[in-house]
Amino acid sequence: MEKIDWNNLKFGYIPTDYNVRCHYANGEWSDIEETRDEMIPIHMAASCLHYGQEAFEGLKAFRCPDGKVRIFRMEDNAKRLQSTCRALVMPEISTERFCEMAKRVVKLNAKFIPPYESGAALYLRPLLIGTTPDVGVKPAKEYSFIIFVTPVGPYFKGGFAANNYVIMRQYDRAAPLGTGRYKCAGNYAGSLLAGKIAHEAGYAGEFYLDAKEKKYIDECGAANFFGIKNNTYVTPNSLSILPSITNKSLQQIALDLGLKVEQREVPEEELATFEEAGACGTAAVISPINRIDDMERGLSYQISKDGKPGPICKKLYDTYRNIQYGIEPDRYGWVTVLDITEE
Ligand code: PLP
Ligand code: COI
Repeated sequence: MEKIDWNNLKFGYIPTDYNVRCHYANGEWSDIEETRDEMIPIHMAASCLHYGQEAFEGLKAFRCPDGKVRIFRMEDNAKRLQSTCRALVMPEISTERFCEMAKRVVKLNAKFIPPYESGAALYLRPLLIGTTPDVGVKPAKEYSFIIFVTPVGPYFKGGFAANNYVIMRQYDRAAPLGTGRYKCAGNYAGSLLAGKIAHEAGYAGEFYLDAKEKKYIDECGAANFFGIKNNTYVTPNSLSILPSITNKSLQQIALDLGLKVEQREVPEEELATFEEAGACGTAAVISPINRIDDMERGLSYQISKDGKPGPICKKLYDTYRNIQYGIEPDRYGWVTVLDITEE
């Protein structure tokens, strides 16, 4: 295993040994290549650089207490990438190819999978870029698909601790019928300013309301939102939020734990009624929410009573993590077990 300070990893980038790639030209995908090269040779007029023809994904692999390595819900990431491809007029990567590449890149970089005890994971970042040189605004003819990996620690400093967010009414992340529900680069560039302002004001992140009416909750920075009340898991239903695989998993776990699940419009005022709330995503897992401020209206929604994660968030978090680690049974076929022995 590599000499890395596994317990103090950030959500950043550490080089690993290999990445895997394939290329699309003349209507066909090439064979899969394994490379040690971290650079992509790219034409300065490539469509991804000018017109944002870029799609990406994010998923994790874990070294588990039984010594096995598990990748979490990779077929779902493959399907979401396909939906982004359709929206951005890019060629789709089949689920089979996506999964083959994901398994291969994890195996090739086995020594970079953090030990179980560290709580860290190997993050897989698939990305698809349009590479045809052309200054005309049109879909590229050639594409490259790459999956690289990097070991990561918690997305938020302090890991599973309650954070504060701020509603940023003057910025939208995505338009109702725009690209918010797809995982494409432009959505993130468009969120950087609101994120910067929120961080500078001491918040963990920015909180978006729906762009049309500014009434309903959309997303919590680059994560989905859920609230808990009356034994119910409530999460927004909106065309401009990314369909989070973590959120989908937590909804199932919530049902299994005997909670009700509601996916519907969540008006801002309802924040005052939640007993617990969290931001969820692959990177953050669950990041419990302490308080949400609406500075424009001079309102503060204090969700956590004692500044700590609540019991239902904790139970959801533990169950979700235990499924990822193979400690609890994988009832829904979410995990892919890889046969990799310790290096
Ligand atoms: N929302 C946004 C904007 C994201 O970028 C992500 C991260 O992927 C999520 C939500 C969470 O999605 P998932 O749980 O599939 O990682
Ligand atoms: C997540 O995986 O939860 C994210 O928010 C993705 C982000 C790092 C782009």
